[in-house]
Amino acid sequence: MSQTQATFGTGIAQCRSDFPALDQDVNGHRLVYLDSAASAQQPAAVIDAVARYQRNDHANVHRGVHTLSHRATELYEGARDKLCAFINASNRAEIVLTSGTTEAVNLVAQSFCRPTLSAGDQILITGLEHHSNIVPWQLVCEQTGAELIVADIDDDGDVNLEHLFALMSERVKLLGIGHVSNALGTINPLADIIAQARQHGIAVLVDGAQGVPHMNIDVQALGCDFYAFSGHKMFGPTGTGVLWGREALLEEMPPYQGGGDMILEVSFDNTVFNELPYKFEAGTPNIAGVIGLGTAVDYLLSVGMDSIYEHEKTLHAYLASQLASVDGVRLIGTAKHQASVQSFMLNDIHPHDLGTILDHQGVAIRTGHHCAMPVMKRFGLPGTARASLGLYNNSDDVDHLVAALEKARQIFA
Ligand code: ALA
Repeated sequence: MSQTQATFGTGIAQCRSDFPALDQDVNGHRLVYLDSAASAQQPAAVIDAVARYQRNDHANVHRGVHTLSHRATELYEGARDKLCAFINASNRAEIVLTSGTTEAVNLVAQSFCRPTLSAGDQILITGLEHHSNIVPWQLVCEQTGAELIVADIDDDGDVNLEHLFALMSERVKLLGIGHVSNALGTINPLADIIAQARQHGIAVLVDGAQGVPHMNIDVQALGCDFYAFSGHKMFGPTGTGVLWGREALLEEMPPYQGGGDMILEVSFDNTVFNELPYKFEAGTPNIAGVIGLGTAVDYLLSVGMDSIYEHEKTLHAYLASQLASVDGVRLIGTAKHQASVQSFMLNDIHPHDLGTILDHQGVAIRTGHHCAMPVMKRFGLPGTARASLGLYNNSDDVDHLVAALEKARQIFA
């Protein structure tokens, strides 16, 4: 056991065995899963909760008077309550269940921005954003005549705060900013940024897809207006996610999708929308997925978000230092505060080739542009290799990655 392993604590070290998918060999080697930023593995508790629901309780929610529909509704709405408490929302009406972060951002673009923005208004983002926090704003800018403006990032992958603050003005109606960069791992100083935005009356949406799985989130303390996140990055099922929004703002916003649960009354002349949060939840939802997501919240709380944060902080430091010690490795993303993600290049080996060689050794990383092409362009790269951590990773995983990189280096030499 390495020294680093010894400091990780026993509680979190035992979590690994909760994740059945991690217990397998891939290409003749123990699986080393370092791609949780793309999608995290699910603990048995989540898999079992979904299976239990599908076997025993499945029916549509909010509709039937029969027992199964009651059970399904109770489980589904119970998950909403868990999510509400998990991010310290003040009210369950503020928890809009979506298919993921992307849908949540599009919802804000179409329901908050589209009805209120016009030519002369601006939407502000940073050069660090994921495509899901760029394209929905481009679409709504085209629809309204508003302008998208972008704050620079520096060579470490930090947002240039001077530039960001200089771009803030009364013309800017919304700031869309990631909590943690999926490409570089940068943790943005949200408290300062949100405080500054508020002085200009700018609404703030935080893309929390890479924040929620790794640290304690308190949306009231953050002071933002919207916080979006995905279930499958926080050990829940795919096709689930949350838009948290301030109730007063959500009340004012019209729905952008019609049908199903979002209505109270329909005639050919008029439709009366349902109350929050259902006004934004058109159609039969991903019931099983949301129930699984509720169990993922239980799981995260049982491990403890502070333990997860500390564990991953130590492990990320180890990952960065071990990678940097490999001959020919260049770290991409060296921000002052990083979480869970480390991008890198090995000599001039194309990241896809490198990823394939690592896969042959059982090591799963993501390669490419990570849905953040502007970040890659800023660094003059077509893509990077990216190792990303989850609560179940340990220093042994990092050691395997480093050994696999050494082998790759020899193969390409
Ligand atoms: N946005 C996900 C990633 O960073 C898919 O890999």
